[in-house]
Amino acid sequence: LHIAVLMGGWSSEREVSLTSGNGVAEALESLGHQVTRIDMDRNVAQVLAGVRPDVVFNALHGTPGEDGTVQGMLDLMQIPYTHSGLVTSVIAIDKELTKQALVPHGIRMPQGTIVESERLYEADPLPRPYVLKPVNEGSSVGVAIVMEDGNYGKPIGRDSEGPWKHFDRLLAEPFIRGRELTVAVMGDRALAVTELKPKTGFYDYDAKYTDGLTTHMCPAEIPEDIAAAAMDMALQAHRLLGCKGTSRSDFRWDDERGIDGLYLLEVNTQPGMTPLSLVPEQAKYCGISYAELCDRIVRDAL
Ligand code: DAL
Ligand code: MG
Repeated sequence: LHIAVLMGGWSSEREVSLTSGNGVAEALESLGHQVTRIDMDRNVAQVLAGVRPDVVFNALHGTPGEDGTVQGMLDLMQIPYTHSGLVTSVIAIDKELTKQALVPHGIRMPQGTIVESERLYEADPLPRPYVLKPVNEGSSVGVAIVMEDGNYGKPIGRDSEGPWKHFDRLLAEPFIRGRELTVAVMGDRALAVTELKPKTGFYDYDAKYTDGLTTHMCPAEIPEDIAAAAMDMALQAHRLLGCKGTSRSDFRWDDERGIDGLYLLEVNTQPGMTPLSLVPEQAKYCGISYAELCDRIVRDAL
């Protein structure tokens, strides 16, 4: 097959996407496919029309790339592509729309509130502690946890100067104490539960992409019923949103509250494929190599 790997772009997750894309491209080449690497710029449609691939491997993260824009363009160009389609991508990139789609089906998610970024400095949108996050970013970009004793406007987080003015819609959610879990879904199967144990306590951008800053427990050392519930919720979310190929659902679990303390935070339709990423790690745990994972994702697109 001639596969174009779309990566990079101009989202805040550009660097992560380049790492994902180059890893995927190398793996697909090792399987004998003809691969064209495309660092997406604003002429991407013209570039693709010239390359004429059989299929696009979408290794983009964030906006644009994970949000339906690129999916709509590829639909119009009639080029098959990996991962989720237009409608699913539009919903899943937006954490608020995701809730509106999943909560009525009984999927437990934190009850949040949308905040305009200018209003943030006027008052706490929720009782502390709470989490502030842009509705449509990935890799914890712009996420802050505001604890009881946090200096308001300079909360704990990667962008401690108060980055929110760059994002127009923010979501405030009650902070769920306890543990960070994630589940990958491939096709019709939830692969495993991984617990993330960041050294700083906050699984932020640096903890995600710096080797040694987070311990990954795969499978998670949690009670069987919690693991089964998380895998079931991830599979249900994947199906309800109409995800294709692979997705990854992220959770918080308040371990003092048993099963009622398990909350889905979001569904990632373009999960990372970097050396520290979780879908490849869970696939490996299930006996699926990185190259085979890439190959399966491609085959799902055809
Ligand atoms: N947004 C990053 C790439 C992830 O979900 O893995
Ligand atoms: Mg995400």
